[in-house]
Amino acid sequence: MTATEERAPVAGGFPAGFVWGAATSAYQIEGAVDADGRGPSIWDAFCRVPGATAAGESGDPACDHYRRWPEDVELLAGLGVGAYRLSVAWPRILPEGGGRPERRGLDFYRRLVDALRERDITPFVTLYHWGLPQALEERGGWRVRDTAERFADYAAVVHEALEGVPYWTTLNEPYCSAVTGYAEGRHAPGAREGHGALAAAHHLLVGHGLAVARLRERARPGERIGVTLNMSPAVPASPSAEDAAAARRMDLMVNRQFTEPLLGGAYPGDMAEVYGEISDFSFRRDGDLAVISEPLDFLGVNYYYPIHAAAAPYAQPDPALRSAFDIGVRTVAPDGPPVTGLGWRIEPDGLRDTLTGLAARFSRLPPVFVTENGYGDDGDLDDTGRVAYLAAHLAATRAALDDGVDVRGYFCWSLLDNFEWARGYAARFGLAHVDYATQARTPKASYRWYRDVIAGRI
Ligand code: FCB
Repeated sequence: MTATEERAPVAGGFPAGFVWGAATSAYQIEGAVDADGRGPSIWDAFCRVPGATAAGESGDPACDHYRRWPEDVELLAGLGVGAYRLSVAWPRILPEGGGRPERRGLDFYRRLVDALRERDITPFVTLYHWGLPQALEERGGWRVRDTAERFADYAAVVHEALEGVPYWTTLNEPYCSAVTGYAEGRHAPGAREGHGALAAAHHLLVGHGLAVARLRERARPGERIGVTLNMSPAVPASPSAEDAAAARRMDLMVNRQFTEPLLGGAYPGDMAEVYGEISDFSFRRDGDLAVISEPLDFLGVNYYYPIHAAAAPYAQPDPALRSAFDIGVRTVAPDGPPVTGLGWRIEPDGLRDTLTGLAARFSRLPPVFVTENGYGDDGDLDDTGRVAYLAAHLAATRAALDDGVDVRGYFCWSLLDNFEWARGYAARFGLAHVDYATQARTPKASYRWYRDVIAGRI
């Protein structure tokens, strides 16, 4: 990297108090899947299915963070971040999903939170970053309402045990849990059920709302409660009316079916039309929307790229027989925008549009944090591409602030290279490189660049 690239400008100052952070998640970094009474999660089970993940890899040993966490806290301190977004592994706390909490699992997170606070790093704790206890999946997983209730119980247990956490996030990316996990089967639990995914999406939202209420009752002074959504603007692939309608259907599936009930208290009016007439939504109960739309103190937004959508034939032409998620859309790769090392399109304006769009649409929009944004490649230490990506997305965040959106912070995904779900270890998002043979961490050029941004030197 040249000196100029290493100083890629961030486009103006950020407000005093703007939170600079880095993010990880439990299953992607912890390893130690059998340690201290941890139970199996749907990801442990999924990774054992032949062909489910690249090279048959799993989150064991990942970055062995469960044992090496003091070193990772030092990496965060060296970066100078004011905040660290981590997640708690449900099966470490309640190995069977419910019942008696496992003290050793809670102690691990207590020690981590204490160490962060000693370094003046504010913990942002996510309660669910995809690791459902396998015991609950065997009782129906997110297809059934009971899982939402178990989630609220688990949230209360973790909240009670962990002091010194000012920011609590219920779910990470319910879209991925529901659609990638229960419709497409590319993520755990690997189900390919259209209708099952609609029920899963609903029960995730109900679980979120029940957990918000439980945390709210017990909140210590100053604690804030929110949720994190992955958001991708759906852009019509052409000016045609058909592609505009296709983009709107995609927007419903990825964004609106979550934002509207959470922030607006109602499901979008086009749910039944988009998901087909056999989608009876019988899993919804009176009162659910009031639960789901419990007021939030903040919204987390994860942004990587927009989706370019074109109309496509339905797999089932008869709408009366069409299953959910057969929505008549194909995604297209437009000419022009550059791509990351993983081939993801780089379109920073999509982040600005997402943030300004939320503010325009929801009068009740709480303060927003960009809780994930990052660049994947094969692990180059001289990661010019990552620096350019982060600089451009920080500029987009800055532009949204100028547009009047109340953005309070930005978290880079990720502190470390880690287990990137179905892609395994080959896809690397870290500011620090991890050598999985030795578990050595090596800061990349982007780590130094981000450190200088945070310090106000860039
Ligand atoms: C997000 C996930 C995160 C990570 C990034 C690259 O969808 O929340 O765990 O895998 O993508």
